[in-house]
Amino acid sequence: MGAWSPRQYQKFSDLRNRACRDLAAHVEVAEARRVVDLGCGPGNLGGIAPDYWPRASIKGIDSSPEMIEAARRSFPGHEWLLGDIAEWAESEERCDIVFSNAALQWVPDHGGLFPKLFRHVNPGGALAVQMPAYDAPQYEILREMAAAGRWRRWFPEGRAREWRCHELDFYHDLLKPQAARLDLWATEYWQVMADVNGIVEFYKSTGLRPYLDPIGDAGERERFLEEYAGRLDGVFRHAAGGGVFFPMRRIFIIAGRD
Ligand SMILES: C[S@@+](CC[C@H](N)C(=O)[O-])C[C@H]1O[C@@H](n2cnc3c(N)ncnc32)[C@H](O)[C@@H]1O
Repeated sequence: MGAWSPRQYQKFSDLRNRACRDLAAHVEVAEARRVVDLGCGPGNLGGIAPDYWPRASIKGIDSSPEMIEAARRSFPGHEWLLGDIAEWAESEERCDIVFSNAALQWVPDHGGLFPKLFRHVNPGGALAVQMPAYDAPQYEILREMAAAGRWRRWFPEGRAREWRCHELDFYHDLLKPQAARLDLWATEYWQVMADVNGIVEFYKSTGLRPYLDPIGDAGERERFLEEYAGRLDGVFRHAAGGGVFFPMRRIFIIAGRD
């Protein structure tokens, strides 16, 4: 995939930070000293962590040089490193909180990954993860578009190389043998966007990237976005007073160690 864009990503920072804050608020590790933030992006946790773990230092890891640069600029007091989550999972590093907001869906093989991540948690600490729900209509539409019709030629396998996550029961069964406590929930955030193009803008820096990158023609990419916007318009209801509803279902997983 092409480069992640901190500027496009941060266009919706309030909306994106909301789930990050909700995740942090439920991590009951008051004395946390060391937090590792996997897929840290532009370092948003740097502005949130002091409210919940005032004595913690953060080590953020992200595979995008642009994101790491943005994090270093915004929160120079913490450590932001270029790296891969799957590689870090193989390391011996230990910390009080392994935190990951809206990133692990980009890493394959959750059946292998999550137990490995939990092994990095110190006694009394926690693994805390937030990810989008896989089967929401805004993603299903993209999968349908890639699988058939005029867009199929850009996706020879009939699908994009996109992100993946499971439902909460999967993570429960996976972590239950190791975790002393499991806190699992889903939240659907409802907001009103001015129109469906606002939703398209929201996903341009994230979920749309695996679909736009393989389309090797700028005009075709524009037409793909137009068709996507049209299909979203048929699914998301218009709100009284103007705008269109944009529901975003997110899953949360916190696994605590005694
Ligand atoms: C949607 S952003 C989330 C950023 C941040 N956690 C937040 O809450 O705003 C996903 C981030 O995961 C990073 N990422 C994706 N796959 C990765 C991998 N395998 N290793 C490290 N970082 C990865 C991307 O570079 C991107 O910055």
